[in-house]
Amino acid sequence: MSHADLDQTAKSILTDNDQGGYTIPTKGLYPYQWNWDSVFVALGFATFDQDRAWREIEMLFEGQWRDGMVPHILFRKDDPSYFPGPSVWGTNGGPIPSSGHSQPPVAASVVLDLVRGDRTGQALERATALFPKLMAWHRWYMTYRDPDGLGVIAVIHPWESGRDNLPDWDDALRAVEVRDIEPYERKDTSHVDPAMRPHKEDYDRYLSIVAACRKVGWDPAKVAETCPFFVADPGVTFIFLRANRDLLALAQQLGMGKEADEIRGWIARMESGAKALWNPDIQAHVALDLRTGKQTDGISCASFLAPYAGLTDTATMAAQRAHFDRMASKVRYMMPSYDPEHGCYEALRYWRGPVWAMINYMIARGFAEAGDPARAERLRNDTAALIETSGFAEYFSPESGAGAGGGTFSWTAAIWLTWASPSHVEQAA
Ligand code: GLC
Repeated sequence: MSHADLDQTAKSILTDNDQGGYTIPTKGLYPYQWNWDSVFVALGFATFDQDRAWREIEMLFEGQWRDGMVPHILFRKDDPSYFPGPSVWGTNGGPIPSSGHSQPPVAASVVLDLVRGDRTGQALERATALFPKLMAWHRWYMTYRDPDGLGVIAVIHPWESGRDNLPDWDDALRAVEVRDIEPYERKDTSHVDPAMRPHKEDYDRYLSIVAACRKVGWDPAKVAETCPFFVADPGVTFIFLRANRDLLALAQQLGMGKEADEIRGWIARMESGAKALWNPDIQAHVALDLRTGKQTDGISCASFLAPYAGLTDTATMAAQRAHFDRMASKVRYMMPSYDPEHGCYEALRYWRGPVWAMINYMIARGFAEAGDPARAERLRNDTAALIETSGFAEYFSPESGAGAGGGTFSWTAAIWLTWASPSHVEQAA
């Protein structure tokens, strides 16, 4: 297919997955609105319909909870083809039935992009309406996912990280007692090959965490205190630090002085806190189990998001470059979601090795901003090559380039349109 044909296909994927203002990740496997999927989707829509891009994010915030949290899934209508649905979550925090935790907070960053690239003349008005909602969500993160003020952000469930079965969660997940779960039937493994999905033992524990949080009524203070899983995640921490910087830029543009001061405080706390994620033995940022104080020992794609978060000191950058080049010598396509030289790496199992387009986009953006255009370009070229070879898959093997998981995937299409497509780059030039 030519680039123009792929551009067209990508647009059709977004419009086909559009449910009337919000977009599902893919038909079958994921029939609802997912938080960070939607936000990346907005970037894709923005290349041809900016009004629709804003709508996507506005509809996501319609599901915001009273405490400020923006849930990871909004169950706008019941769909028996998905498990676990609303009855398993048992939440009551917001106006739309939803899951009980959040997902990586990319929204402020994309809102800033929409404002900066605006062709509608309405961006400031729409950003002004979203701004207090973004503030409330960010404040919720600082309060309940960093309750001790450490400057790192915890996830209370592997799903909250957006990187569900990453090896970083293995030890902490193993420590979760399997309890309070009803007999259940998974649906994901009837949509895609079970060899590409998490194992049953993991699934039992995923549901046990949900049951534990449900027991305390999803009260975020109680969840922070009692949840059997509470792990500081370099992915969410870096994405959120970046989002705070972007929210600060928005606050300044919109003349929100008081809020700008509050955000500056968050940034300072996180810049210093991020050091707790640095593992000196492997020279990389890793996850930190806040219940046991134990760091993980592997490098994941999130380790490369430090520059995206604006952490570009010489030591961090030198270590990132060295790991990048070492990993690039082991696989054909960058960036594997886990270090190919680590014992837990699996080329085709979800977050234990495969390449994800939107992660490549964020890492590349950070590298480009940190003055490393060559590695940023390598990521863009690899992402384009994967999509040209294997289509708009959910994720890809870093070795063969084969597409895996769900097909006609919205965020892969969106990342193609906003960044990976060579024709997009030609237009921008
Ligand atoms: C999987 C991914 C998560 C994503 C969701 C919908 O659960 O791990 O990041 O948001 O699918 O695409």
